[in-house]
Amino acid sequence: MLPNIREHSFRVSRVAVFLGEALAQAGHSLNLPLIETGALLHDLGKTPCLGTSRNHALWGAEILRDLGYHEVAQVVAEHVYLKNNNGGSGFFREAEVVNYADKRVLHTRVVTLSQRFIDLHERYGRTPEARARIAVNQANTRVLEEKLFAPLDLAPEDLLQLNQWREQ
Ligand SMILES: [Fe+2]
Repeated sequence: MLPNIREHSFRVSRVAVFLGEALAQAGHSLNLPLIETGALLHDLGKTPCLGTSRNHALWGAEILRDLGYHEVAQVVAEHVYLKNNNGGSGFFREAEVVNYADKRVLHTRVVTLSQRFIDLHERYGRTPEARARIAVNQANTRVLEEKLFAPLDLAPEDLLQLNQWREQ
């Protein structure tokens, strides 16, 4: 794993665990070690996929599945696009927390959804189809954001304070 992807993954993990803990404190049943592990490994397939047409989310999930880590594999598989988009309200999945956390981290900085998607458009929006796919993902992530924060005494902007956290 390239060092910059590793640094990105540490930050995503910090955001995902923070959010997962807040949801758990609000009474939602979530597997926090699965959130942390899924977040740390979400870009496992990224380095070998660079410069290829392979899907890095599915590639990373395949590596983990081959090793027998099926639950983590599912979280990794869904970190770009969720399988069941967002599900019903009041029920949260670990994959949703990791997917959202990744959408809040640009390289190693916690940013707003808008900032992250501006960057995704610039880097990956090369064709009309790609731009449409990113726009749909952005709209879906907004819905996910509302759902995740609905039970919390936190606003999405509060996650920006996690930029102060440093790796020990
Ligand atoms: Fe990724």
